[in-house]
Amino acid sequence: MKKITIAIDGFSSCGKSTMSKELAKRIGYVYVDTGAMYRGVTLYCLRNNMIKGNEVDEEALKAEIDNISITFGIDEAGTQYLMLNGENVEKEIRGMEVSGKVSIVAAVPLVREAMVALQRKMGDSKGIVMDGRDIGTTVFPDAEMKIFVTASPQIRAQRRLDEMRSKGNNEVTFEEVLFNVEERDRIDQTRAVSPLRKADDALVLDNSNMSLAEQDEWLMNEFQKRVTE
Ligand code: DC
Repeated sequence: MKKITIAIDGFSSCGKSTMSKELAKRIGYVYVDTGAMYRGVTLYCLRNNMIKGNEVDEEALKAEIDNISITFGIDEAGTQYLMLNGENVEKEIRGMEVSGKVSIVAAVPLVREAMVALQRKMGDSKGIVMDGRDIGTTVFPDAEMKIFVTASPQIRAQRRLDEMRSKGNNEVTFEEVLFNVEERDRIDQTRAVSPLRKADDALVLDNSNMSLAEQDEWLMNEFQKRVTE
C-alpha cells in the first residue's frame, strides 16, 4: 500500500493530538506532535530568561538556537515524550507557564524556520501523521491528506480543563483556561509568519459534537479513500 503524508491542523485543544496518535497507531504511521516542539523551545526560553512579559529576546535566542535540541523519546508503554537537550520535559511543557508563552515564542520567525526544517526531515519518507497549525500550509503543502480541526472555544476549554484535572492540576479555573484558549487562537491566527489558517485543499472536521469513536471512523475512512485511489 502506498505511504502518504497526513497533515492535521487546527485550533488549540481540539483533540488533534489524541486523534492523530490514534490514527497513526491504527495505520502503523509515525506520529509527530509539532506543538510539543514549540513548547520545548518555549521551556528553554523560560529557563534561560529570554522572555520578558510578552516579548521574546530574539537576539539572545538567535545566539542559542543551535544549542536547543528537540527530539522525541518513547517509554515502555509506547507513549511518546518530548526531550529538550536529552531531558524528558513532557510534564513541564504541558503546564500553564509554558502554555501562556508558547504562542509568542512560536511567532518568532527563526524558531519557525528551525522547527519547520526539523519537521520536514522527520517526514521526508512519508508514512507520517503530523499535527500542528501550519503543516498543510507550510510544512507539507503537498500532503495527500489534510484535515483542519475545529470546535467551539468553550468545548475546547472544558476539554483542556478535564485533561489538566486528570493529571492532578486542580488550581486552574475554567475561565483561566478559556482565556488562554481564546488568546492563543488570536495570536496563532494573526501572527505574521505562517498564521493558523485552513489550507485550501484541507477538509474541515468540526468535532464539537462528535464522539472519539465517530471521529476515528471518519479519519480512517478519509485515509482509506486516499490510499486505495
Ligand atoms: O498544539 P499545542 O497547543 O501543543 O501548540 C502549542 C502552541 O504552538 C500553539 O499556541 C501554537 C503553536 N504551534 C505552531 O505555531 N505551529 C505548529 N505547527 C504547532 C503549534
